[in-house]
Amino acid sequence: MNEMELMMQLHRNNQRQGPGSEDTTRLVLTLAGINPEMSYKIADIGCGTGAQTITLAKTLKGDIVAVDLFEDFLERLKKNIAKEQTLASVRPLVASMDDLPFQNGTFDIIWSEGAVYNIGFRQGINYWKDFLKTGGILAVSELSWTTKERPAELEEFWTGEYSEMNTISEKIQILEEAGYKVLGHFILSDVCWIANYYEPLMDAHSAFLKRFGHHAMAHHIVETDRKEFDFYKKYKNYYSYGFYIAQKI
Ligand SMILES: C[S@@+](CC[C@H](N)C(=O)[O-])C[C@H]1O[C@@H](n2cnc3c(N)ncnc32)[C@H](O)[C@@H]1O
Repeated sequence: MNEMELMMQLHRNNQRQGPGSEDTTRLVLTLAGINPEMSYKIADIGCGTGAQTITLAKTLKGDIVAVDLFEDFLERLKKNIAKEQTLASVRPLVASMDDLPFQNGTFDIIWSEGAVYNIGFRQGINYWKDFLKTGGILAVSELSWTTKERPAELEEFWTGEYSEMNTISEKIQILEEAGYKVLGHFILSDVCWIANYYEPLMDAHSAFLKRFGHHAMAHHIVETDRKEFDFYKKYKNYYSYGFYIAQKI
């Protein structure tokens, strides 16, 4: 079992696989000027078990394609969504976010919470742009520095984990260079990080180690999560997830 598969096993029973909240998803819809009376074609890329997909489907009319690399996450999404009263229809799709089977100009909204880093922010937002209609909205959350300078051990940790760690203004510049009009941005709250992500993740560790503790990689994943959580508590002034809302013009 490789690292990605072990991570999937660790995260599959949790509601979220990254920081976020229902309020955050709704705030993005407001900043994007989305009209709940209209019907939208939406792609939710790297949807995981679909926490944000469900909020979108409960709030908006239309069709949502929920894309993830892991079928198990999408199976969980199907079970979770079956318990909800939704307005939009949701179609799960197993696909890689850098090789999507969509026609150009298909979507009104491309959504992606905490997932674009898998192919890199610059590549993702450039590649996905073709799938948006003119006037369509890109809503993407991405780990970002919130200050120009930060402690060396933090910088070393996150740039080791993700080579495209940049400041918010650099992320905005990348969106502008790709030809988007940036409509807004904000950073995720502590609740998104701690109550909705790290605490449920820490709770999942013991069952995960009972089942997969014979893999050295499982211990490495748990140690890295704990370190990440400790770093977040210590250094949260220096980084967060930025949510970026942009329009294809
Ligand atoms: C940090 S999780 C975020 C999940 C969800 N959006 C959330 O916020 O709870 C990143 C997601 O990206 C998915 N993923 C990783 N690489 C992918 C790829 N190449 N194509 C599609 N999905 C991918 C993972 O399976 C995972 O569900």
